Amino acid sequence: MQSTKSKILDCLQSETYVSGNSLAEQLNVSRTAIWKNIQALKNEGYQIAAVQNKGYALVGASQNINQAKLLSIIDKSTLFDQLIYKKTVDSTQNTAFNILHKNDDNIVIVSESQTEGRGRFKRQWLSPKETGLYMSLVLRPNIKHSDMITFNLFMSLAISQTIRKNTGLKSGIKWPNDIYISDKKVCGFLTEIVSEEDTVQTIICGVGINIEPSTDIESLSTATALNAELPSEKQLDIDSFLSELFKNIEIYYNKFMSTSFSEIRDEWIEHSIIFNRQLKISSSNGIIKGKALDVNDEGYLIIIDEEQNIHQVISADIEI
Ligand code: BTN
Repeated sequence: MQSTKSKILDCLQSETYVSGNSLAEQLNVSRTAIWKNIQALKNEGYQIAAVQNKGYALVGASQNINQAKLLSIIDKSTLFDQLIYKKTVDSTQNTAFNILHKNDDNIVIVSESQTEGRGRFKRQWLSPKETGLYMSLVLRPNIKHSDMITFNLFMSLAISQTIRKNTGLKSGIKWPNDIYISDKKVCGFLTEIVSEEDTVQTIICGVGINIEPSTDIESLSTATALNAELPSEKQLDIDSFLSELFKNIEIYYNKFMSTSFSEIRDEWIEHSIIFNRQLKISSSNGIIKGKALDVNDEGYLIIIDEEQNIHQVISADIEI
């Protein structure tokens, strides 16, 4: 259920001025409850002006990821049923695995920081506070294993579309799970599943997006953050970024469930950064040096190596 705080935020976002009385009446709570929640929103970084005879007005959005905004997004979502919001956890993936059996809900788990954030191939994912978005999405597709292969293609496009639309930056997809800007990684995601026999019951998709530059991230020469790529006068508007991200996740997840990769193939290829360059592809079958030719409808990456042999790769790490 949406909290009073996030309902107040919705009202402030849709009206220029709204009085304490009117808020109390609309939300059926006391004036004191309104005042307390306004203070809580201010503590989360929202700039709210109180003007005599007019009421409250939102004059500046919070620059931090915050629970009120996420609750108001999830409340309107037709895909997600629940938000779990934490100050810190070891890994939101672990939180997801611990709670996913309690019901069949589609759940968003967000933590402000992680002490043991993890990436693909058991790599560490640095997750300091107020620096990035760290979340796990719990989804219940109930599909065959073979239908799962294209999930990352849809998910990567949802994220890259969001970055391009919301920031104007030219993000690109490095197959299968990374989003890059100017040849540096800004986002990675990790797809884990729970399955029974041939049915994938639950997807646990962990998404990490670097938002603020930090010494940790800057020490990795191959990583960047959205606000490091944006000019200082055009820093990310977190609220609209989150709204756009969840809108696109919903659109592309629904497409994943109802159409084939061919429907988004052209769009995906346009976002991809792996074509027309030399690649080093490490998979369980060894290392291939070559070039990407295509991604087929089943989601396999087609590679031509230096000896002109053709390979189909399903899961691999690519160096560009
Ligand atoms: C990768 O690039 O290898 C994937 C990185 C995934 C990081 C996210 S952050 C939220 C979620 N919790 C984790 O421990 N990992 C994922």
